[in-house]
Amino acid sequence: MSSRFCSIKSFAKLNLDLRVLHKRVDGFHELRTIFQTISLHDTIRVELDFAKRTQIDVSSPIEIADNIVVRAAKLVLDELKLRAWVRFFIRKRIPLGAGLGGGSSNAASVLLALPALAGETLPREAAFRFAKMLGSDVPFFLHGGTALGLGRGTELYPLPDLPSHHALVVSTGIHVSTPEAYRSLERALTSTDDSPILREFQTIAWTLNGSRLEQLPLKNDFEEVVFKIHPQLAAVARKLRKLGAKPARMTGSGSAVFGLFSNAQAVRQAAQSFAGASVWPVRFVTRRQYQRAWQ
Ligand code: C5P
Repeated sequence: MSSRFCSIKSFAKLNLDLRVLHKRVDGFHELRTIFQTISLHDTIRVELDFAKRTQIDVSSPIEIADNIVVRAAKLVLDELKLRAWVRFFIRKRIPLGAGLGGGSSNAASVLLALPALAGETLPREAAFRFAKMLGSDVPFFLHGGTALGLGRGTELYPLPDLPSHHALVVSTGIHVSTPEAYRSLERALTSTDDSPILREFQTIAWTLNGSRLEQLPLKNDFEEVVFKIHPQLAAVARKLRKLGAKPARMTGSGSAVFGLFSNAQAVRQAAQSFAGASVWPVRFVTRRQYQRAWQ
């Protein structure tokens, strides 16, 4: 039988706002975040041949962290009781260790694409269970658009799509370790029901729809600790603000920094001021656009 193949876009995300409340008994931290998919994407070509034995090959110019793509594919094939030779050819654009969710997005892409390519349906419950096993950011990429993330970041609620914004993403190539970034926050192992962080975040969530993002006091709790270790990143945020970005924030636990601008020309102009760094002019990808890319 001939090979089946498809080519998919695996989008990056920004955390428009990110608060870390407290340490939990399971070792993770309790979060409040606003996720947003953006147009920066990897491209994954998937080829599949049914076979007697399962074999999964990944070809990518960059080594993907403990091969989350292979783990996602194995989970899907085992659940569907299929044996196949699957080849992934990944054209990486999303930098790794940058807080843009590149690996998580790739994993979610596999959970969505592989069953369809095999002509099967993976129950949504199984897709979400696998996504959560693969990483805290993976479930978000099963939905895309603008979403509220609670708990570990895996409990998700849709937010109304924000109007399309123009943004510049700047990556200096600095790799931030996510577990280390969490540890440096030194959050207590207590519940913080009535913390000022929570009150501030709630105000943002309630006013997000109908306000202009540049008027909201968006924050990322990781900036305080990560900018201390890597002052170059604070300098990137300052520079973006000077060039007109409002706001300019780090995404996830870093190290990528993004600035929102009022139009595409302002983004292009700002992009020219970052020699030595990788820059991507991007737009927000709404949930509808995200899901359309999957049909
Ligand atoms: O789930 P993920 O693999 O992305 O998490 C990587 C690490 O980040 C975890 O092992 C944990 O140390 C930390 N983390 C956390 N709280 C979260 C998400 C991640 O402490 N909500």
